[in-house]
Amino acid sequence: MQVNYNEASLKRVRKRMAIDTDRHDFMHYFLKQANKEQLPTETIEAQATVVILAGSETSSVAETAAVYHILTHPDVHKKLQEEIRSAFATIEDIKLQDVLYKLPYLDAVVQETLRIHTPLANGFTRWVPDRNGAMICGEHVPQGTVVTINHYCSNTSASNFRDPMSFIPDRWMGDATYADDKRDVVQPFSVGPRNCPGRQFALYNIKLTLAHLLWRFDLKLGEGTENWAVGQRIYNGWIQPALPVLMEKRA
Ligand code: HEM
Repeated sequence: MQVNYNEASLKRVRKRMAIDTDRHDFMHYFLKQANKEQLPTETIEAQATVVILAGSETSSVAETAAVYHILTHPDVHKKLQEEIRSAFATIEDIKLQDVLYKLPYLDAVVQETLRIHTPLANGFTRWVPDRNGAMICGEHVPQGTVVTINHYCSNTSASNFRDPMSFIPDRWMGDATYADDKRDVVQPFSVGPRNCPGRQFALYNIKLTLAHLLWRFDLKLGEGTENWAVGQRIYNGWIQPALPVLMEKRA
């Protein structure tokens, strides 16, 4: 199915702007500040649309890819499920702080997903502003040159990672086999003053979603999904086919 994300996001922004509510969602704070600064409607709509675009597709790509990688690696699935189910007696006990700090293996699974299936694979461009250019990796790059780092290539390069195309959360858990991996290379949210302002929110969202899913359901991949990750095209985001998953409420 083809979706025009810009149009779809704009529609939602307009719908929300037309509602008078005390709900303290992000639009509440957004509109409060925009009114204070007397921003024109078009500016508010454009900014809010960017947040929806930037926040939804990226997180859903990561969550879908994480489910796929977990379910195609039974050892990972078992270990993660045990960590999550033994940490919480009831689903109501799954609190954000605990999900963030008490589940090291979940953190490793998310890191590994963001390495091998990084949502914004091509990276964003920067422009060399200095009149004298810049030295980048020992090379002189003249002013005005557009530069970028392709996240997918650096995250899956054998110069940076052992078994780069394999999904191995243990490389984030201190496994000696992967001691020489250059883990700092993985920067899915970019770095510097224009890095992703939604980073923490995205990590909360992905981890909470996975913790709830794996606590509550026994999951299995649907038929014909074994090669789901093979041959996916990347423009800036990924073109992901649907991932059917069988979900059975745990006994
Ligand atoms: C896994 C999820 C996400 C990933 C991988 C991701 C990644 C990125 C990256 C790489 C950038 C570009 C930074 C740069 O130019 O250096 C960016 C920008 C941005 N992200 Fe995210 N993001 C995610 C989730 C979110 C969420 C949940 C939100 C908001 C709710 C969000 C809001 C934004 C916004 C508004 C920008 C533009 C910032 C600017 O131009 O200054 N992102 N994101």
